[in-house]
Amino acid sequence: MSLIIAVDGPAASGKGTIAARLARTYGLPHLDTGLLYRAVGVKLLEAGRSLDDEAAATEAARSLDVAGLSDDPRLTTGEAGEAASRVAGHPGVRAALLDLQQAFAAQAVGAVLDGRDIGTVIAPDAPAKLFVTATPEVRATRRWRQLTARGFDIGFEEMLADIQRRDARDAGRGAAPMVQAEDAVLLDTTDMDIEAAFDAARRIVETARAKHGL
Ligand code: DC
Repeated sequence: MSLIIAVDGPAASGKGTIAARLARTYGLPHLDTGLLYRAVGVKLLEAGRSLDDEAAATEAARSLDVAGLSDDPRLTTGEAGEAASRVAGHPGVRAALLDLQQAFAAQAVGAVLDGRDIGTVIAPDAPAKLFVTATPEVRATRRWRQLTARGFDIGFEEMLADIQRRDARDAGRGAAPMVQAEDAVLLDTTDMDIEAAFDAARRIVETARAKHGL
């Protein structure tokens, strides 16, 4: 068995930062699976297609070029996140992205993947699973600070409403909804800064390593 670390949780919970730092700490490749859905959403928007068009979205997912996704500034916007959440509800899109994610998880060296369904669907046998969360108010505050620091003009109430709408859509969909896997450890970062959250995440992984002899 290799060290697969599944990091799931809602938007702005800190899961992406935690996953990237775990990958560096353990020398593992890291896949931010949200980027895949963001890229599909942006492709549709740029082609002028409806985000509700499952056939077009599935085709966009099948023909996705994953090289360079992590450096693409178009994928970091709130609009891309919203589009991602909408296309992610199409079962055809999820099916088209499944093999790629499972192949990434199956690398002999191990892997870190973050998303919404890693511990439940993509890598259900992962030895280390975390579900990272925080209250919607704290997540909205973090995201609002990031965006206003980058010069975006957005109100806090609007940010909070966006987060709540996205949570409801991601958790409420029929296809691979966002849910904590039964064997995932809950990490609530509401009262933690990033250092404390990362330390807690590393302790969870260390416990899983000891349990599985990894
Ligand atoms: O983690 P993120 O904000 O980049 O994700 C954007 C959207 O993509 C999220 O709202 C739902 C969807 N997503 C998903 O359905 N499954 C994943 N494994 C990752 C993201």
